[in-house]
Amino acid sequence: MQRTLSILKPDITRRNLTGAVNQKIEASGLRILAQKRLQLTLDQAQKFYAVHQERAFFNDLCNFMISGPVVVQVLEGDSAIDHYRTVMGATNPANADEGTIRREFAESIEANSVHGSDSLENAVTEISFFFSEIEIVD
Ligand code: CMP
Repeated sequence: MQRTLSILKPDITRRNLTGAVNQKIEASGLRILAQKRLQLTLDQAQKFYAVHQERAFFNDLCNFMISGPVVVQVLEGDSAIDHYRTVMGATNPANADEGTIRREFAESIEANSVHGSDSLENAVTEISFFFSEIEIVD
């Protein structure tokens, strides 16, 4: 069993699609162990995406992530990190497979609906960025 950090991005909350995305997550076999809706500050978005701070899209990405509420989640399942990345689809929705969250819902490579941790190490760091252990219920 693994845990991964998921973020439903502002393009999802703006269009009232939180439940539709959660249905895809749960139908895929992943369990939502924790979930909360937050309005990130610019400082929080910059810290969360610090690994991308040298990238040309960093400022646009951070501004998009504070353009509305996000829903942050802890997901659990077998190989949850890779499993969720498959369920999400490719970063650019134009390249995402049929049936994936990004293929179905994403608006662009920036407004791409969901984030999922990309490694076990990053999952631990990202989960602890948003959640304390008592907020995560098996
Ligand atoms: P995410 O999985 O949240 O991780 C970093 C985010 O940066 C990514 O999803 C995209 O939303 C965004 N991103 C990645 N590449 C680009 C790009 N070339 N242009 C704009 N945004 C990007």
